[in-house]
Amino acid sequence: MLEGFPVTSRRRFLGAAAGGGVLAASSISFAAAVNRNQDVEARIAHRDFKNLYKEDLPTPCMVVDLGAFEKNLKTMSDHCRNTGIKLRGHVKVHKSPDIAKRQLALGSIGVTCATVAECELMARSGVTGILLTRQPTSKNNINRTIALARREPTFGTVVDDPLVANWLQEAAADEGAKVRVAVDVYAGLTRHGIAPGESAVELGKKVSASKNLKLIGFMGYSGTASHTHGWEERKKKSKDDLAGLMESVSAARKAGLPVEIVTGGSTGTYNIDAESNGLTELQAGSFVFMDTLYRHIGGKSDTAVYTDFDPALTVMTTVISKRHPNQCTIDAGNKALLRPTDEVKGRPEVKVENQGAEYGILAWKDGDRDFKLGDRVELYPSNLDMSTNVYDRYYVARSEQIVDVWPIMGRAGAAQR
Ligand SMILES: Cc1ncc(COP(=O)(O)O)c(C=O)c1O
Repeated sequence: MLEGFPVTSRRRFLGAAAGGGVLAASSISFAAAVNRNQDVEARIAHRDFKNLYKEDLPTPCMVVDLGAFEKNLKTMSDHCRNTGIKLRGHVKVHKSPDIAKRQLALGSIGVTCATVAECELMARSGVTGILLTRQPTSKNNINRTIALARREPTFGTVVDDPLVANWLQEAAADEGAKVRVAVDVYAGLTRHGIAPGESAVELGKKVSASKNLKLIGFMGYSGTASHTHGWEERKKKSKDDLAGLMESVSAARKAGLPVEIVTGGSTGTYNIDAESNGLTELQAGSFVFMDTLYRHIGGKSDTAVYTDFDPALTVMTTVISKRHPNQCTIDAGNKALLRPTDEVKGRPEVKVENQGAEYGILAWKDGDRDFKLGDRVELYPSNLDMSTNVYDRYYVARSEQIVDVWPIMGRAGAAQR
């Protein structure tokens, strides 16, 4: 017997696996499983999470703290209800129809997506109210955008260029489709957005006059305000960045254009956008899990830490070597997207260092608490979008117990494009 190995839990797990029950008639049976990991896979395939614990999982893997996640969703939905702003949450952060559907159940009006592929994934999963926040410019993307509009009448896209409005109109006319379109207005981020004011209104008029397009409103995403440190500074930055959008919206209304939606915002500005910026809807995404970059921008009440939402996602790793003082090696490295700005859950003083493709180092000061060989160590990732992109499932946990598994879909590779 291996000294110190958690034998009791292994017995508990395999004992439960041998129970059969609902799995008896299945092709992937526990009887056929020859090792512990196959038992875990068989259990997940059958959605039988009884007696499945974090300690049974292979590492590195992504774990959702369901309690914290649900609290984050509730905080945002309460905020939306109280202020009247709607949520059309960004899915690029999580790429999970399970999460999108939970948000819809709590009152979201739809989702925002960065890519056509994300829109297709959400549409296939039965999600409605999808808005593509990047204008389609390739033949491939325009064709798929039209297909989405035909399939789902609540789908919409943005444009920031009259040329793209022409292309969409032509393609939509060819297919007999009607496409909902919002004008994307520059809001401090030079990657996209037409100049506010006259140019934006002219583009709105053009869309509105296009037979196969329907103008639904305006978008302005201030990606520079979202991570501005300090709530007052963020408020000012966001107000300045969105001033042009608001000016465009009021000019468009004066010109008699229909403005059903004014969309934008982020996790960092969610409690600024409704009150001061005049947005009708929020595209916040990261709040569902939070990451360490967001945690340190500071909030309205706590200037050092942004505590409005709780960290709900970790990368779980295992300590695999301990041969040097004040440090240990974990089984997560470049491939697991380990970053020096990641933080150890419950041990913020520990330094996280990258040691190669499959290895990471945790380092601590003399006298600090040690880690033991085989310990499970959970890390808060620095950036959600990139991290979730390299895992294919979320293990959903209440405390130590796994209660669900949600696939992360449409990730890296062709499926993402
Ligand atoms: C267009 C757009 N809207 C909204 C967001 C807000 O996302 P988050 O709340 O994760 O900062 C992003 C994030 O990059 C975005 O690209």
